[in-house]
Amino acid sequence: MSKKITTSSLMKMKQEGKKITALTAYDYPSAAMVDRAGIDVILVGDSVGMAVQGWDTTLPVTMDEMIYHTKLVTRACTRALVVGDMPFMSYQSSMEKAVENAGRFLKEAGATAVKLEGGAAVCPAISAMVNSGIPVQAHIGLTPQSVHQMGGFKVQRDEERLLKDARDVEAAGAFSVVLEGIPSSIAKKITQALTIPTIGIGAGPSCDGQILVFHDMLGINDGFIPKFVKKYVDIAALAAQGLNEYIKEVQEGSFPSQEYEYK
Ligand code: KIV
Repeated sequence: MSKKITTSSLMKMKQEGKKITALTAYDYPSAAMVDRAGIDVILVGDSVGMAVQGWDTTLPVTMDEMIYHTKLVTRACTRALVVGDMPFMSYQSSMEKAVENAGRFLKEAGATAVKLEGGAAVCPAISAMVNSGIPVQAHIGLTPQSVHQMGGFKVQRDEERLLKDARDVEAAGAFSVVLEGIPSSIAKKITQALTIPTIGIGAGPSCDGQILVFHDMLGINDGFIPKFVKKYVDIAALAAQGLNEYIKEVQEGSFPSQEYEYK
């Protein structure tokens, strides 16, 4: 087993120009596959709401659901750094609630860090968590929890604001920042301006690392897939093939054949 990834390892990777790999996972078997494959960071994302729970936004996901999914993931991981994603309204209403909820990810679920969405506005919460010993990954650009405020899942292009948000979250103590849905040229400038690693999703190749949603990159869910997702395998098609074969064999009586019987 190679050494467990820490927040300092990620910083060192940026300094050495080594790309950071990250994926989401929400349960034991997917986390075990991802960890065994050698991914550096596993995010238990609130994207679970869309990828697994069937919602059309991440807004309905609750704290208790995130703790449950994070427990399943940390049980499977030996190497990857596990980040628990703070769901909508778990850190916005008060500082006490924000720190308490962030602490649950480490105390109850075994995560190493938490992630929250927003720039300058969430810096007090980032600092309060960091001061309590909780490593925080920030998330700026297209922040899905603000979907209604943004008027949809839209690429964010305000360079000045994005650069300020990135500098502010770094100053507040974040150990890393996710850049989602922003032009590659802006992501490059942010990556060069920060000392902490940037992890991109729909932010081009210049980020210090990349993250994708497990279900999107493996083609597990049919339906809309954003432009920035590369489907590395089409699991839905493979599964349909196996399921159709099973149905046919049961219907025609050829399964179970002798080799699957007890004598
Ligand atoms: O919830 C999530 O999976 C995320 C990633 C897409 C960065 O926030």
